[in-house]
Amino acid sequence: MYSLLRNCLFRLDPEIAHELSLDWLSAAERLRLLPLFAPKIPANPVEVMGLTFANPVGLAAGLDKNGDHFNALGALGFGFIEIGTVTPLPQAGNPLPRLFRLPEQQAIINRMGFNNKGMHHLLAQVQSARRYQGVLGINIGKNKQTPDDLALQDYLLGLRAVYAHAHYITINISSPNTPGLRNLQFGETLRQLLAGVKAEQQALAAQLGLYVPIAVKIAPDMTDEELTETAQTVLDSGLDAIIATNTTISREGVEGLKHGDEMGGLSGAPVRAKSTHAIGILAGHLRGRLPIIGVGGILTGEDASEKIRAGASLVQIYSGFLYRGPTLIEEAARAIALAASEPPAGG
Ligand SMILES: Cc1cc2nc3c(=O)[nH]c(=O)nc-3n(C[C@H](O)[C@H](O)[C@H](O)COP(=O)(O)O)c2cc1C
Repeated sequence: MYSLLRNCLFRLDPEIAHELSLDWLSAAERLRLLPLFAPKIPANPVEVMGLTFANPVGLAAGLDKNGDHFNALGALGFGFIEIGTVTPLPQAGNPLPRLFRLPEQQAIINRMGFNNKGMHHLLAQVQSARRYQGVLGINIGKNKQTPDDLALQDYLLGLRAVYAHAHYITINISSPNTPGLRNLQFGETLRQLLAGVKAEQQALAAQLGLYVPIAVKIAPDMTDEELTETAQTVLDSGLDAIIATNTTISREGVEGLKHGDEMGGLSGAPVRAKSTHAIGILAGHLRGRLPIIGVGGILTGEDASEKIRAGASLVQIYSGFLYRGPTLIEEAARAIALAASEPPAGG
């Protein structure tokens, strides 16, 4: 059924299709229709960052930037939902067009540029009529006009605003569509940013008597040495997880395709191997000392279990969800559960 719907949606402008399908989904959820269509996800609870996830397959950030649709998305059976990226102030994002489908490669290029209605709106959504009972992550970023050397201020504003309303918070320093953002991922700049974030987390935890874990989301476009260094910096900071990865600026796999040379971040099948490689390098260095949430190019159940085998404890999907629909949630959850029940190779 989803492939029929997708054929219709894919005839529309990608951003219009995106808005329409989420509006329909939310309407169906309010009418309590979703249980009739939602896939049957096997219960496979996992403990990560001190939280219990109903299953290890989550929705990645960026699909529901404003928290307008998390009740509906949650009703589809995801083990967790990450909303955002939200910035302190509302911002329009980049000029249209800024979202491109590359169906030959089950890929997407986007240069949305953190278009969002701001923290105030997202908080109102999260606080009112919350029916989704699963794990809710809130992904925070910086406004475009905030100078790079004041980035920490935006993250602190975000943290203070969402802290009491999220099960976990993601610090997004890896979108390619906010100039300068990805420079925050390296060296002393990263160390200082994460130290500021950690200090605020500790202050809020003491003030509210509530520890909310914080994950750091990184890009796939790093050398193995950079990945190892970043892993060590996040570990040293005392923060709680790494999300790997965001979209790539590489165009490997889409050269010569229609829209293949658009500016922005590439996601979907072409980022799969890069993202899994990054997870493997991070896991090799971290050796279980910090959990990894694996994301990038999951289009099948096998792609999801590949991320777990590489060292991820949880996975997230975005592009695959647009191409495959809710059935991918079930497929990924089943593949991961099956892989966990199988004896290790050679054992
Ligand atoms: C249209 C679009 C918008 C996105 N927006 C965000 C965002 O706001 N914040 C974020 O952390 N990641 C964002 N992402 C990245 C995804 O969360 C994910 O990390 C990336 O797409 C790789 O996963 P995928 O191959 O399953 O799509 C976006 C991705 C797409 C395709």
